Amino acid sequence: MGCGMKQICLIGFMGSGKTTVGEALARQLDMPWVDLDTYIVKQINKSVSQIFSESGESYFRKLESLYLQQVLDGNKGVISTGGGIITTLENIEKLRKETTIYLAYPFDTLYERIAGDTTRPLATSYESLKERFNSRLALYEKACQVRIDCQDKSINCIAEEIISKISRLERIS
Ligand code: S3P
Repeated sequence: MGCGMKQICLIGFMGSGKTTVGEALARQLDMPWVDLDTYIVKQINKSVSQIFSESGESYFRKLESLYLQQVLDGNKGVISTGGGIITTLENIEKLRKETTIYLAYPFDTLYERIAGDTTRPLATSYESLKERFNSRLALYEKACQVRIDCQDKSINCIAEEIISKISRLERIS
């Protein structure tokens, strides 16, 4: 399929399966795939939790924006982002220029998946996560071209739906 020069970026809250779906999607489309958090960890040689605890969230956001640009310049395939990518306005503008897919779930499903995860520094209490989730919903919607409602769908089914929606987007553009 011809995606022009646009890349497929996956966005969504923590626990929405951006990594898993991104990998499956790239395999099905036979395209390169980059997981942005993993990319950052490799560049800096520190875990996400370490970056947060040593240098704080705002430093992580700077790295995230820097490396998003680097990956957008180089990958030409599928990019799985971190859940907070849309908290930086310039990232939203960049995502809007690509083919950006929002993997949407109800909050309680996401909470069940991320509760107690020690590798995610922002996975805290139900209430504070829910507040964070609510404050981001409009940003995910703003950054994406396509929203996929993922509740109760398998990884393959989600990947198929993305592929069919992308080809529809291409036909009308
Ligand atoms: C974050 C999500 C994480 C990671 C970091 C911050 C967020 O990625 O980038 O812990 O602010 O939502 P995942 O969405 O892959 O968990």
